[in-house]
Amino acid sequence: MRQSSLVVVANRLPVDDNIAPDGACEWRRSPGGLVSALHAILEHTTATWVGWSGTAGPAPGLPDIGGISMRPVPLTEDDFAHFYEGFANSTLWPLYHDAVEQPTYHRSWWDAYQRVNQRFAEAAAEVAAENAVVWVQDYHLQLVPAMLREMRPDLLIGFFMHVPFPPPELFMQLPRRAELLGGLLGADLVGFQRAQAAHNFAQLCTKVLGLPATDRRIAVGERFVRTGAFPVSIDVAEMEALSGRPDVRTRARQIRTDLGDPKHVLLSVDRLDYTKGIEHRLKAYSELLEDGLVKVRDTVMVQVAVPSRERVEHYAILRDRVEREVGRINGEFGRVGEPAIHYLNQQFDRSELAALYQAADVMVVTPLRDGMNLVAKEYVAARVDGGGVLVLSEFAGAADELDRAFLVNPHDLEGLKRSLIDAIDCPKPERADRMSAMRTHLRDHDIRDWARSYLTALEDTGALAERLTA
Ligand code: G6P
Repeated sequence: MRQSSLVVVANRLPVDDNIAPDGACEWRRSPGGLVSALHAILEHTTATWVGWSGTAGPAPGLPDIGGISMRPVPLTEDDFAHFYEGFANSTLWPLYHDAVEQPTYHRSWWDAYQRVNQRFAEAAAEVAAENAVVWVQDYHLQLVPAMLREMRPDLLIGFFMHVPFPPPELFMQLPRRAELLGGLLGADLVGFQRAQAAHNFAQLCTKVLGLPATDRRIAVGERFVRTGAFPVSIDVAEMEALSGRPDVRTRARQIRTDLGDPKHVLLSVDRLDYTKGIEHRLKAYSELLEDGLVKVRDTVMVQVAVPSRERVEHYAILRDRVEREVGRINGEFGRVGEPAIHYLNQQFDRSELAALYQAADVMVVTPLRDGMNLVAKEYVAARVDGGGVLVLSEFAGAADELDRAFLVNPHDLEGLKRSLIDAIDCPKPERADRMSAMRTHLRDHDIRDWARSYLTALEDTGALAERLTA
C-alpha cells in the first residue's frame, strides 16, 4: 500500500456510482457536491483519497484516477441504513440546516456513526505517510480527527465542514453533543464556510466542554485548535472553458428553441432536498402566473431536481409533494406543447448543465439554508457572455460573496415574487454590471485559492513545527 503525504478523507470517493465490473469509473461531478469542489485541486497532486464508493457491500478494487490513489472504505447495508441514511442524513443533516425538517435521534444510529468513523480513521492512518497532512471533510466524519490523532499523533489533521454549523440553541439538542465536539477538536484546524459557523463552534466548545475559546482558537489542554471561515469555491477556469465550447453554445441555443423561444428562461438546479426551498419557489412562481405577472408563452421555468437520498423518508415525501405541485401548476397554467414548468428529475452531465446555465436568463437559487451552494457560483462562471441574472437566498453561504445577486429571503413570498420580477425586468446594462462584479470576485476566489488558503492555514497552525521539534 502506497503511503501519501496528503490524504483526503471524505464520505464519498470521487467516482461515479456506476463502477463497471473491471473497476472502470469516472469522476463523479454532481452539481453542488463536495466532490466537484475537491476534484480540481487533487487532479494534479500525488495524494490518496479515502472514501466510500456509493454502493453498500464489499469495497471495489479501484484504479488510480488522475494520479490520485483510491482507498475505498466499505459500508455494509446496515452501515448504509444507520450511518449514512440514519445519523448523517436524518439526524445531522436536518439539524445542521436549521431543523427545517425534524431531526430524528436513535441510539443505534450513533453506534453505527462511531463504528464507521473508526473505519475511516483506520484507513486514513494506514495510507498516511509519516508527518502527512490528512484533510477530513464534512459532517459524516466528525469523530475522525480525534480517532486519528489517537492512532497517529505525528499527523497534521485538518477538518472542513461543508454544511452549516448550527447555533447552540439547535446543536444542544444532540444527545451526543460533547462527543461530536471532542471529535472535531482532534483536528489542528477546523474550517467552516462562514464566520458565523466558527463563532457557533467556539461558543459551543465553551458551553459544552468548558474550554477557553475565541472565534479563532480553542484551548484544548496543551494544544490550540484553530478555527476560521474558508468559503469553498469552484473550478472557474474549467466551467469557463466548458461554456466557451462551440458544441455547448450550440446546445444552449437549441435548448431555448426547444423551450419555444420564450422571452425569459428561469432555471433552478438542485439536489432534490428539502433544504433547497423548491416548494417555496414553486409557490412564488405559481402565484406570479396566477396574478398574471408572468405569462406562459413569454416565460418558462426549468427545474432540475437531481435525485438524492431517495430512501430517506423526508426526501421521498418531498419528491411526491414537488411532483404533485409541478403537475398542478402545469395542469392549471400550461397549454398543449407549452408547460409552465419543465421538471427534470435526473442526473445531468457537466456539458448539458453548462448549456442550461447559458440558456437561462434568470438563475433562481433559493435554499432555506445552505453551507455554500456551488450551483450559484457555477452559473456565474458559466456566463462567459456576461449575461444572466442571479436570484440568491441570503441563507446560502454564497450570499456573503455574490452580493450583486438579487438577494432574497425565500420565506418571504412577496419579497421572493418581487425579486423574480425585478430579475426578469433587470435592464441589460445593470445585468452586465452585476454579473461582471460577481465574475471578477469568483476569478479571484476559485477552488485553488480555497484549497491553498486552507492548507496554508493548516501548515501555519504551529502544529507542524511542534511535531518536527518533538
Ligand atoms: C452535500 C454534502 C456533501 C455530499 C453532497 C451529496 O453537498 O455537503 O458531503 O456529498 O451533499 O450528497 P450525498 O448524500 O449524495 O453524498
